[in-house]
Amino acid sequence: MGIGRIVVVGQVARDLVLRVDCLPADGASAPVLERIERLGGKGANQAVGLSQLGRDVVLVGVVGDDDAGRMVLTDGRASGLDVEGVTLRGRTALMVDIVGAGGSRRLLEDVPDEALIVAADLDRAAGAIGSASTLSLQLQQPLATLLAAVRLAPPDARVVLDGGAEGSEAEELLARADVLRADSAEAEMWAGTALTSVEVAEAAAGRLLARGPDLVALAVPGRGDLVAWRGGSRFFPHSAAEVVDPTGAGDAFVAGLIAALDEGAGPEEAGALGKAAATSTVGRLGGRPDLSGLGGRTG
Ligand SMILES: Nc1ncnc2c1ncn2[C@@H]1O[C@H](COP(=O)(O)OP(=O)(O)O)[C@@H](O)[C@H]1O
Ligand SMILES: [Mg+2]
Repeated sequence: MGIGRIVVVGQVARDLVLRVDCLPADGASAPVLERIERLGGKGANQAVGLSQLGRDVVLVGVVGDDDAGRMVLTDGRASGLDVEGVTLRGRTALMVDIVGAGGSRRLLEDVPDEALIVAADLDRAAGAIGSASTLSLQLQQPLATLLAAVRLAPPDARVVLDGGAEGSEAEELLARADVLRADSAEAEMWAGTALTSVEVAEAAAGRLLARGPDLVALAVPGRGDLVAWRGGSRFFPHSAAEVVDPTGAGDAFVAGLIAALDEGAGPEEAGALGKAAATSTVGRLGGRPDLSGLGGRTG
């Protein structure tokens, strides 16, 4: 079991995953070869990954007060998550993931305004956040909410940010963060530069480390993941494994990173578990990971 309780504040949605042979052109149609409907969204996918890695996870988010909302909460409980911190309101966010051969993917996102987490939604999870060992925050949510969550967390809780943001609230979050993970577009929001090479990512990571976090993980498109800390860095190239669907790989990466750090692993070991989790997830249809075989050091 995990060392402490991990609270994930992020998106909860209904996922509809459709696999086709070939994505249809305008005006054309295609038969669906495989269909999956279940709990999804970036926060839920990360939380499920952490639970599969043996962690005690509380999910904080919003689902609709509708059939889809009840369906995803049932799925979340069955996946081992504590979903008492999920608010029911409005319509459930819907993610439609259309996957063709060779890892080609189209994503349609219907995220109603009322599905974003507001500060008052944290009330029901205040106890869990107040005793969290790790607080994982997804930056697709309003920054005021994320700052409110940080204020509820114990001063020594590990704060993890996934995503990109800019402005004074973003800077305040970054200053408090222990870990920042960003893909290229998100890194551009933070650091003003897309991650066009490992060297560019190294330089961006160095600048980001000076603004707060102790560990920065950056996805370099088409190349791999860079993990950097004040004492050094390590680049994890993508493996040659087949990409079925890239959806959720970043969320799985964060789950692996957090699970390892929670067990006391150093940055290289944490990066290795993040990479293994991402590699496993790109090989699967849909964003839900299957990390149960990866374990941690003790999990
Ligand atoms: N060919 C590949 N092999 C392994 N991992 C990959 C491959 N391509 C992408 N990834 C993983 O996908 C992740 C994408 O991250 P991100 O863009 O944040 O995804 P998400 O859609 O989950 O937010 C990278 O961190 C990387 O680990
Ligand atoms: Mg991401």
